[in-house]
Amino acid sequence: MYWITGIINRKVGSEKEELFAPLLELKQSLKDEGKRSALTVVEIGVGTGANFKYYPSGTNIVAVDPNPNFESYLKSNISKFSHVKLKEFIIAHGEDLSAIPDSFCDAVVCTFVLCSVEDIDMVLKEVKRVLKPGGMFFYLDHVAGRHSGHSRLHYLLSGIQRFFRHDQKGHKHGEPWYNIECAGFATLEYRRITLSTWIFPLRNLLAGTATK
Ligand SMILES: C[S@@+](CC[C@H](N)C(=O)[O-])C[C@H]1O[C@@H](n2cnc3c(N)ncnc32)[C@H](O)[C@@H]1O
Repeated sequence: MYWITGIINRKVGSEKEELFAPLLELKQSLKDEGKRSALTVVEIGVGTGANFKYYPSGTNIVAVDPNPNFESYLKSNISKFSHVKLKEFIIAHGEDLSAIPDSFCDAVVCTFVLCSVEDIDMVLKEVKRVLKPGGMFFYLDHVAGRHSGHSRLHYLLSGIQRFFRHDQKGHKHGEPWYNIECAGFATLEYRRITLSTWIFPLRNLLAGTATK
């Protein structure tokens, strides 16, 4: 994962920069309103911490992942990005964030996670619950392509992923925008991105934000 996320960041770095740009505006508006000077971000399916470099300075991160093996990678990665703080690593699935109180954070981040969670609607319900009113959900995922060949490749990936993952689960959701639209956020925007790359899971992406 550590090795793969380096490659992914090189391919989708500019999309991530664009996606996370509103975090800085959110931080500034909270400061202007005299509410807080630091942002609190819950990152679901944090993996090895591939998104830390994109967060504004002063961000407090609560990292969530069901795989406990990522903790050592997270700690080593956080030492490279001293502009952010890792407040806590919670070993949990996005479907059950009961360790996190209601209206806890300013933003929730999920990149390359929604495609393979067991219950995407439950994850979205938890995302809304832990966000403060006005808080933002940031998501980026690979999705089934518009062409049937891409769709077949997407589902082939499920088998490959099942082989490598510690819990033997694979990809489920090729069209997460349906669930996000139905999740009841106050505002929603997303865009489809088509990248020209040999890494087929990165060819068709969905990136967007939703506000509670
Ligand atoms: C493809 S990796 C993406 C990691 C990281 N977000 C990134 O963009 O590099 C998917 C991550 O989601 C985690 N994951 C899988 N199922 C999950 C679930 N139900 N809830 C939360 N995280 C999950 C995996 O352990 C893994 O760290």
